[in-house]
Amino acid sequence: GRRVTVRDLAAAKERREKWPMLTAYDAMTARVFDEAGIPVLLVGDSAAMVVYGYDSTIPVTVDDLIPLTAAVVRGAKRALVVADLPFGSYQSGPAEALATATRFLKETGAQAVKLEGGARVLPQAEAMVAAGIPVMGHLGLTPQSVNVFGGYRVQGRGEDGEQLMSDAKALEAAGAFAVVLECVPEDLAARVTAALSIPTIGIGAGPDCDAQVLVWQDMAGLTPHTAKFVKKYAEVGTVLSDAARAFADEVTGGAFPTAEHTYR
Ligand code: KIV
Ligand code: NA
Repeated sequence: GRRVTVRDLAAAKERREKWPMLTAYDAMTARVFDEAGIPVLLVGDSAAMVVYGYDSTIPVTVDDLIPLTAAVVRGAKRALVVADLPFGSYQSGPAEALATATRFLKETGAQAVKLEGGARVLPQAEAMVAAGIPVMGHLGLTPQSVNVFGGYRVQGRGEDGEQLMSDAKALEAAGAFAVVLECVPEDLAARVTAALSIPTIGIGAGPDCDAQVLVWQDMAGLTPHTAKFVKKYAEVGTVLSDAARAFADEVTGGAFPTAEHTYR
């Protein structure tokens, strides 16, 4: 079959069908998630932490993310692949955003990009949309602004909720095809979801969003400490650790390899 498109996601909202998004950073996991039927894969700048070992998303660069994004596109046949624009690759204005997004589409084959922020990135969103690039927004806890927030905490409480609502509407008006809502109260996420005709994708934003996203290492149990909003669907960390220990024991004890794994 053909690849999922932004039109399919718009149609899903009209039919009130919910859908899952996962992050992916390499070809093998992309293939696994694609074959499991995940329609949208995000090559998140969370790669800063889960791939590169930084403690925030601030340091990761376009050059860091391009090869990962290209690998995900190669690994996934059906999923729509969204490239996350990292900190410092779009903030200075529409020309920078357009140049960065163009690199991602040309050099990786990704079909869409994501950027963080509301009112302050509307010119960027509009420029990319005008160039024919599908744009996903991201509001609420936008990790690239961690130094302003002073940590990772719930956003959009009280009056900030009205700002978030107007940012969401402005992103829709700028032509965004979807918007991530991260770490916002569920009632606000529900109101934004009802107010927009484009899908909302929640992460720590309650059950009423049109879609849900999690970082795969969080939902699969590879990340040691996770936020309240993460549900662990597997214990991959334990599985891998057990495999590594068993391999080590068999090598040191001489039990591996045997004839079965040896050429004669
Ligand atoms: O970088 C990322 O993984 C993200 C998602 C959590 C939305 O932006
Ligand atoms: Na991100």
